[in-house]
Amino acid sequence: MDGSWGIGHTRWATHGGVTKANAHPHCSCDGKIAVVHNGIIENHHAIRAMLEKMGCPFLSETDTEVIPHLISYYYKEDLVEALKAAVVNLQGTYGIACIHADEPGRIVGARNGSPLVVGVGAGEMFLASDITAMVAYTDKVVYLNDGEIVDIQENHYSIIDREERTVDKKVAQITWELGSIEKGDYPCYMEKEIFEQPESIARALSGRLDVENATAKLGGLNLGRGRLSDVGRVKIIAAGTSWHAGLVGSLLLEQFARIPAQAELASEIRYRNPVVEKDSLWFTVSQSGETADSLYAMREIQRKGATVLGICNVVGSTIARESDGGIYVHSGPEIAVASTKAFTSQLAAFYLFTLFIARMRHLSREEGLSFLASLQEVPAKVAQTLGQRDHVQEIAKKYHKAKDFLFLGRGNLYPIALEGALKLKEISYIHAEGCSAGEMKHGPIALVSPEVPSLFLVSDDFLREKTISNMREIKARGGPIIAVGVEGDKEVAVLADDFIPVPKGDPRFYPFTMVIPLQLFAYFCALELGRDVDQPRNLAKSVTVE
Ligand code: M6R
Repeated sequence: MDGSWGIGHTRWATHGGVTKANAHPHCSCDGKIAVVHNGIIENHHAIRAMLEKMGCPFLSETDTEVIPHLISYYYKEDLVEALKAAVVNLQGTYGIACIHADEPGRIVGARNGSPLVVGVGAGEMFLASDITAMVAYTDKVVYLNDGEIVDIQENHYSIIDREERTVDKKVAQITWELGSIEKGDYPCYMEKEIFEQPESIARALSGRLDVENATAKLGGLNLGRGRLSDVGRVKIIAAGTSWHAGLVGSLLLEQFARIPAQAELASEIRYRNPVVEKDSLWFTVSQSGETADSLYAMREIQRKGATVLGICNVVGSTIARESDGGIYVHSGPEIAVASTKAFTSQLAAFYLFTLFIARMRHLSREEGLSFLASLQEVPAKVAQTLGQRDHVQEIAKKYHKAKDFLFLGRGNLYPIALEGALKLKEISYIHAEGCSAGEMKHGPIALVSPEVPSLFLVSDDFLREKTISNMREIKARGGPIIAVGVEGDKEVAVLADDFIPVPKGDPRFYPFTMVIPLQLFAYFCALELGRDVDQPRNLAKSVTVE
């Protein structure tokens, strides 16, 4: 399209179906004001009723459509003034961008609960809900806070807060490189991101390994030594894949730092009025740093007086800014909806933190050194595991027509089973259940049949024998088995119908390598089924609505 200013939006349906009429932008009756909106206007029914009474025709089923009509109601030759008056009436969450036909070259935005970032270019300006959208055009950004309104013109922007005071903000520098948001020679972002993991994990570890003192260096925790020694309990809140990383983290902290730890679903804890003990330390894990469930849960926990650290990928995201400190995972932009490289970098953050806090307690220098040595080996072991690409593709060709799958693991591989099942579901649309292998006999085993394959994760630690028994139980019932196990494990290789080896190493670190074949398996099944791997149906990369 021709033109020098405009707005657009990929709608994630909350009110009304996925139809052309419901697609953004929505306009005022005279067609002069156009609005795109991310979030939910909770009182839209009341506003709509009032506007309809005034003769305003509505063309969509969306909550958003009330916004341009409301702005139009207040409009007297100045879009900022009209938007300011309109948002006072809105209850709910919004990141809004709006334009007026009579004010060419001007975009006005407002934020409340949904992210909004200004991009500062040379002779051009941007407004988006995520820096990934504009990293190709500028590396200078300004983050808006709730209640702020921004007025953007070709060479200039200004921001005011709820009290109409001008806000002078620091321009932040994005360090992501343009190449990191391009596909390069890969057909999809997901494949590219899977193969980037040796480097992205190395980046998460870079500068943070203190070999001399056999510990980790974590500069952003903002917690004194005394406060860290007093931590009696760790609680982790997150959603989806980030929750799975939190589950691995909680097991690590319990096992190696001997600190009681628990990972909770953000969407659940937020409404549970959780007990917040004085000696507890909380983490919010989020790739995007914008997930509404995780953000609101974090705010609720902070309100109760707790310290919450963030484990985020996107620098400057809302969770990163509002948390009391934290660890950036530095995986670089993750574009595919299915999270892969951010997951392994989140794991790296938990391994670093576990080492750090365990060394402040009982963990000896020798034990710390052995932990560090294994951690340093991870990028190479992940690279080696990626060598299974073609083998996993063959296996995916064999199994992709299955309608249901079981993913089974024990100990630190149980969260990896959950992650494998989530990956398969979200991009191939094959139904998959992740289970603890020990729990299988309490119900899920009823699903086993020649049509329902099971994918086992088999370590070579003390749980190996137990997992092998579970494999035999499936075999006895005619269920096909794919096993991801340790190279050279002949017994597992023979028992399984298909075997994917990962390099032998320290079993505490198998979550890093064992998740790789599961990511590849989901990816190749989705390709076989002709799915849109990077943008699976019904899903959004960052879920900024509740
Ligand atoms: O950005 P976040 O890590 O907070 O996102 C949480 C989940 O929405 C996310 O992990 C989701 O489950 C992924 N699509 C999984 O691949």
